[in-house]
Amino acid sequence: MKKRVVCLRGFSLFCFCFLIGLAVFLLAASSYSADPAGNAFLADKHQKAGLNCQGCHQEIPPAKLVPTATCMKCHGDMAKLISKTSKLAPNPHASPHEPPAETKCETCHHVHKKSENSCVTCHEEFVFKVP
Ligand code: HEC
Ligand code: HEC
Ligand code: HEC
Ligand code: HEC
Repeated sequence: MKKRVVCLRGFSLFCFCFLIGLAVFLLAASSYSADPAGNAFLADKHQKAGLNCQGCHQEIPPAKLVPTATCMKCHGDMAKLISKTSKLAPNPHASPHEPPAETKCETCHHVHKKSENSCVTCHEEFVFKVP
């Protein structure tokens, strides 16, 4: 009889830990896919395109920043990217200040917070809407 009680206790402790773990995991996953106000960030857009966290983060759970090289695995070479935005003048992907190969995506595109237009700090007239 006593044994069974201990066993049940062990089981409910396991359940409790499991649920807490699950809650923490879900909270972490959701807080990295949208801001508290529910705005869609790049992480959400990637999720909609069928990409999970490991599409960008190698480690489980995600902990490190994601380098430009990872973005380029899917978004092709710079020449392709430049041609995609060639209608914009100037082209945000072809800055005259650095060679295309040195473009760092995270200067403008953020994944878990609002993206920014890095050009506008010096050129007020370059108004880009950065996804
Ligand atoms: C499109 C690629 C991409 C996807 C998908 C993605 N992340 Fe990220 N993650 C990044 C980038 C890039 C950073 C660096 C910060 C930034 O630019 O927002 C980052 C940063 C983080 C960090 C912070 C690391 C630090 O040291 O500050 C955590 C934690 C994280 N991501 C968790 C997640 C989780 C959880 C998911 C799945 C819901 C996810 N990420 C999906 C690209 C991605
Ligand atoms: C595993 C493949 C993969 C990786 C890695 C990846 N992406 Fe994407 N990305 C996609 C797909 C798929 C889409 C949706 C289709 C499209 O627009 O090309 C997308 C869409 C986008 C868009 C367009 C969003 C819009 O509103 O149209 C941007 C900007 C973008 N990704 C930037 C990044 C950046 C920055 C990184 C690196 C931190 C990254 N991606 C990493 C696959 C990837
Ligand atoms: C100077 C800021 C800036 C940097 C740096 C930058 N981007 Fe962009 N990106 C933009 C803007 C602005 C747009 C939206 C263009 C438009 O309105 O059509 C865009 C659009 C995109 C798109 C969507 C293109 C489409 O029409 O389908 C992808 C994918 C993308 N960027 C990937 C990248 C990747 C990968 C890097 C790093 C190599 C990068 N970007 C670096 C500003 C930037
Ligand atoms: C730290 C300040 C700074 C930033 C950030 C910056 N620029 Fe510039 N840019 C300058 C200065 C200074 C000049 C030269 C003076 C001028 O022509 O206004 C210049 C000139 C230019 C020119 C004219 C070059 C020519 O052929 O005469 C273009 C186009 C340009 N920048 C595009 C960009 C783009 C695109 C971005 C974002 C990716 C950017 N700049 C970010 C400071 C900056």
